[in-house]
Amino acid sequence: MTVALKVDRLSAGVEGKQILNELSIEIPFGEVHAVMGPNGSGKSTLCHVLTGKTGYTVEGAAAVAGEDLFSLDIDERARLGLMQSFQYPTEIPGVRLREFMLEASEERGIDEATAVSRIDEAAQQFNMEPFLERSLNDDLSGGEKKRSEIFQISVLQPKVALLDEIDSGLDIDAVKQVAEAVEQMRSPDLGVLMITHYSRILRYLSPDRIHVMIDGRIVDSGGAELAEELEQGGYDAVRRRLGIEKVVEEAPKQKPSDFFTDTPFDV
Ligand SMILES: Nc1ncnc2c1ncn2[C@@H]1O[C@H](COP(=O)(O)OP(=O)(O)O)[C@@H](O)[C@H]1O
Ligand SMILES: [Mg+2]
Repeated sequence: MTVALKVDRLSAGVEGKQILNELSIEIPFGEVHAVMGPNGSGKSTLCHVLTGKTGYTVEGAAAVAGEDLFSLDIDERARLGLMQSFQYPTEIPGVRLREFMLEASEERGIDEATAVSRIDEAAQQFNMEPFLERSLNDDLSGGEKKRSEIFQISVLQPKVALLDEIDSGLDIDAVKQVAEAVEQMRSPDLGVLMITHYSRILRYLSPDRIHVMIDGRIVDSGGAELAEELEQGGYDAVRRRLGIEKVVEEAPKQKPSDFFTDTPFDV
């Protein structure tokens, strides 16, 4: 039985700086895994290296549905079934969401009739009908943009979805909606890697497994009890329990007022 995503002792660096240190993770099909880590721990780098952003030195291996990723170009990885949602989805005035999805579907070899029915079905499921004829992400709120990303994944049906900080910059109602959308996105043919540095989204969804990432490696994995520990004591509690020294200065803690803004931020 192949797993959706298998990452095996992945190390990566950029400009002489080592960011990922022999990181391993496995996501079976049908599961949602959360990777939680403080800022600067290498979460986005993991996404970039897997999807094929250039400029990184990479060691180790990664596979989607058993197929090696690192021998493939960025577009080949996408066609193989790897898709990333962006922390800050780009606004593209003049390109309607429906047209964009039809084009993207064609690129992936999905026939038009199937694409049309998937678009309609997913638009209904994720409440995206009002946005289909509007420009991509143009004038959408933060929460709507994230919903749009989940809608796009549901239409294209990749094998692996990487969600980078799908909950950042959202007010609590939007976080709840996004969490529900992630749960709805579950499919036996999909593995989801949901990356975040806030534990609050875990109040509204139940990942099959939670991994804590510190300094470019997974230091602990577990279930609901790990979510509880993070909610109570943050990453410091995990560090103390595991005896990990704090080597990087963290950015200031999130202010309560940040919960009530829809502006993207990355503290
Ligand atoms: N292009 C780059 N050049 C130099 N340092 C980088 C680059 N990209 C990321 N880093 C550094 O690598 C570390 C991990 O970054 P990142 O993967 O964005 O962390 P996270 O997403 O967990 O906040 C940070 O210290 C960041 O400053
Ligand atoms: Mg990041």
